[in-house]
Formats: sequence, C-alpha cells, structure tokens
Amino acid sequence: MGRILMIPGPTMVDAEVLLAAARPVASHTSPEFEEVHRETLELLRPVFGTQGPVLLLPGSGSLAMEVAARSVVGPGSRALVLRAGHFGGYLERVLRAAGASVDVVDSRVGRGFTRGDLESLLSRSDYDVVAFQHVETSTSVANPLRELAAAARDRGVRVLVDGVASVGGMEVAMDEWGVDVVFTGSQKALAAPPGLAIVAYRSGGEEFLSESRGGVYFDYPRLLAEMESTRNYLFTPSVNLVYALHASLKRIHGEGLASRYRRHTVLAEAVRRGLEAAGLRLVAEEPFRAATVTAAWLPPGVEWGRLYGELRRLGVEVAGGLGGLKGRILRVGHMGEVDANDVVAVLAALERALRRLGQPVRRAAAVEAALEVLDKAGF
Ligand SMILES: Cc1ncc(COP(=O)(O)O)c(C=O)c1O
Repeated sequence: MGRILMIPGPTMVDAEVLLAAARPVASHTSPEFEEVHRETLELLRPVFGTQGPVLLLPGSGSLAMEVAARSVVGPGSRALVLRAGHFGGYLERVLRAAGASVDVVDSRVGRGFTRGDLESLLSRSDYDVVAFQHVETSTSVANPLRELAAAARDRGVRVLVDGVASVGGMEVAMDEWGVDVVFTGSQKALAAPPGLAIVAYRSGGEEFLSESRGGVYFDYPRLLAEMESTRNYLFTPSVNLVYALHASLKRIHGEGLASRYRRHTVLAEAVRRGLEAAGLRLVAEEPFRAATVTAAWLPPGVEWGRLYGELRRLGVEVAGGLGGLKGRILRVGHMGEVDANDVVAVLAALERALRRLGQPVRRAAAVEAALEVLDKAGF
C-alpha cells in the first residue's frame, strides 16, 4: 500500500478523525449521539452553502445520488444530463431508474459545459431538471456550477448536482446560486472514512421531501423526521462514522472554508505544473480544471500497470483511468487533507517512476515546477 494516498477518493484521513470513531458504540437514540448528529448537520450546512435540510445516511456517494435523484424526479419527469465522463453515466442511470425520461448530452473529453451551452440546450426543449457533476472525477473536469445554475434558474428548471468530488474542496453556495440539490459522500474532500451519504437541499427545499417514494431510503418525510431527531427512528445511523465526520468538519471549519478552497486551488496548480514539467499532457482543458483532482494522459510507451507498481514501491498511490480511459490516463487526487509536502513527494515519486520506465524526465523537473507555484503562493 502506498504511504501517501493521492487518489480521488477515498482520501487520507487525519488520526484525530479516526480516533473520534474509535470509541464505544453509542445508542443512536441517546442524548449524546443526538447532539453530535445535530451538530454534524449544522456543520455541514455552510460547506454546502445552504440553510436548508441535509440528509445524512449510511452509504456511499452512489446511494446519495439515488436518494437525491428520487426526491426531484418521478415517472413523467423530464431530465437533462450533462455528461462529461463516467459518472455522468451514473446520473443518467439513476434518473431513468427513478422513472424520468432522460436526454443526455456529451461534452468532448476534457471539456465541461458553459452557461451558453446550457442556455441553448434549454431553449430547444422543456425539462423539469438538469443534472450534472460539479467535478467529473473520471476526467478531472469541473463544470461552472454558479453559471449553470443561473441558466437553469432563468428557465425555471431545477438543478441536481453531483458534488461527490467537490464538496469540501471547492466552493458550493446552494442558497446564493440557486442550486436545488447537491449530494456527496464522506470519503472525498470531507476527509472522513467512506460510508456516509449526504444530500443537501437549498433553503426552502423541504418541498422535495414531502412525499414517500417507497422503501426505507426513499421515504422522504420519515428521513427528514429522523434528521430532526434520531429518536424518530427509521434506520440505524452509522454512529461511529458520524463521530468521525463530526471531527473532520471541526477541522474543516478550524481551517476556514475560504482558506481551504484556496489551499485546494494552489495545490491543484502545483500538481498541474508538475505533471506538465514531467512531460504529461493534462486531460481537462481551461477553464474546466478541477481543484480537487487532476487527470493526465500517460506518455506513449508507458504502461499503467507498470507505472502503478513503481509508484507503490516508492510509497505512493495515485489512480488510473475509468471506463474508456482505463490504461490511458493517470489521476492524482489532491483533496481533503493533502498538503504541499504530499504534492512534492508524489511528484518526486512520479518523476522517478517515469525515469525507471525509460522516460526522458529531467531530475527534479516536476518538483521544481511545483515548488515555483507553492513558493509564489507562500505555501
Ligand atoms: C463524481 C462522482 N460521483 C459519484 C461517485 C460514486 O460515489 P461512491 O463511489 O461513493 O458510491 C463518485 C466516486 O468516485 C464520483 O467521483
């Protein structure tokens, strides 16, 4: 296992957060747990930029996606999916499974969607909801959330956003920008262990939670009631993971959201410059580059399995490609707890691994390029 984990989730978890979970299991209806659960929801709200309801469920980002989708669409709904990669396909599938009729529009690899793109799509057809990734993790493309939400709002179309690879690492301001629903998982930029699904609604978004759509996790009025008090039991919360997320959110607010977003922006730029200096071409184009993950094309002749093996021998773990990009790209996650030292160490390991595979990379080229960004930013 790599000692430095810089994959785009799950991400490194601080010892303080892990230790918060290492405690005797509390009753989910005890006053002590109820207080931590309530406070966790309170600490999550500013991270989503909402004063509205937040659902905290045992599960991963995929469950959050399904719970979010079924709260906004049902049979007869018309949805538009802006697909910028692999996870856009998930959105399409969950919306269809929820009974919506779905149109999908693909972007070119490395590109997201602009406000103009969405305006023109919405002028051609009537939709109830538009859905897209804030960050499409498979290509490291970021969509301009604020602008896309504005275009949808102008047409009265609801906005459903996959924030799995952005929430906690990039600004999301649901109330201010008019984003109806955003979901994520605990294991990415929120830097807690995997296992919690989180769905947030903009202020006044209780309307989405007024109907049961069947099952346990789609019984929205009862989910909402459990969030108001865990004594309104519907399912058993992931008690110890909630303690961990609570501790991580305390760290997030201790750092301050503005500082956290700036750290992500600076580290992202350092990673990009480093990768380019090592001779790699970035997948995402300007202005669609995410602050949480960076994908780059593997140089000709470099086989992913061998590079991955070399990197692991050097104590580092980054990710490969997904779906059609498998074996063609690498992805470096730089969200959550990642700091400047981690970035430098990972780039140093990458250069060394590439040289061992016969690539003509000048010693310290990537490190030097990254340090230039870090020094300039005062990191
Ligand atoms: C953008 C995005 N959406 C959804 C998911 C699915 O989340 P999970 O693996 O937690 O189910 C992921 C996972 O990487 C993701 O990156």
